[in-house]
Amino acid sequence: MFDLTGKSALITGGASGIGEAIARAFVAQGARVVIGDRDASRALQLAEEIGAEGTALDVTDPRSLRAAMDRAIDAAGGLDLLVNCAGLMHVGKLHETEPEDYDRIQAVNARGVYLACRAAIEPMLRRRSGNIINIASVASLIAVERRFAYCVSKGAVLEMTRALAIDYARDGIRANAICPGTVDTPMIRGYVQKYFGDDVAGTLAQLHERQPIGRMGEAREIAALAVFLAADESAFMTGAALPIDGGWTAK
Ligand SMILES: NC(=O)c1ccc[n+]([C@@H]2O[C@H](COP(=O)([O-])OP(=O)(O)OC[C@H]3O[C@@H](n4cnc5c(N)ncnc54)[C@H](O)[C@@H]3O)[C@@H](O)[C@H]2O)c1
Repeated sequence: MFDLTGKSALITGGASGIGEAIARAFVAQGARVVIGDRDASRALQLAEEIGAEGTALDVTDPRSLRAAMDRAIDAAGGLDLLVNCAGLMHVGKLHETEPEDYDRIQAVNARGVYLACRAAIEPMLRRRSGNIINIASVASLIAVERRFAYCVSKGAVLEMTRALAIDYARDGIRANAICPGTVDTPMIRGYVQKYFGDDVAGTLAQLHERQPIGRMGEAREIAALAVFLAADESAFMTGAALPIDGGWTAK
């Protein structure tokens, strides 16, 4: 079950956290993986460690996306899987969100997903086959306090996923969104340090506590769901928004 042998994948933001866990899981299931990340040295280092390819990638730059896409296609003869995982966090209500923060978050989290899908769709259409997995968030489904710009960006990711799913359903291309709750990754550790540096332990405890299950998720738990969506066993699924959140959105 869930064999990915022969499938090629590009994972944006694949050098850290959830993307790293997905890269590891895809390789373990037999996929040929290109890890694209703004942190090129980490992408190359991880790729070497796990038997993937690594490349510099900035999802805000169409030329950089084109080059990473070509790399994935050249390596495997086509692109089966695009995983959009690159993302940034910002903490603040509307009045605490400067226009430049807003633009920075949308540029990566929302426009970056648009640009990556735009670069992947024509090669996928040519083969009449493709599978897009977007790492959205619980913030695509519900509002999360003091995450204004992030919520807006992740709402866009979910609607993009649904629009893609509908538009390309008859072209052999599917698109689904994974909506994680809080997952213990360098992103979380980084923003806790940046915005809540005066009470790191207390903030981490709150982040565990806000999931009814009583803890943050682990990146490998999100990766397991990505493997299912990448595999042929999920072929009937498209346009889905899948919460994986310790019960958060069930409240
Ligand atoms: N950690 C969580 O609690 C959580 C919850 C829900 C959704 N998510 C989403 O999961 C995704 C991964 O988050 P994470 O927690 O693993 O974060 P992370 O910071 O560990 O990893 C994100 C990666 O994206 C890369 N990146 C950032 N900007 C980029 C750009 N312009 N081009 C290419 N790469 C870029 C970073 O270098 C990093 O390697 C994000 O989209 C995030 O919003 C995370």
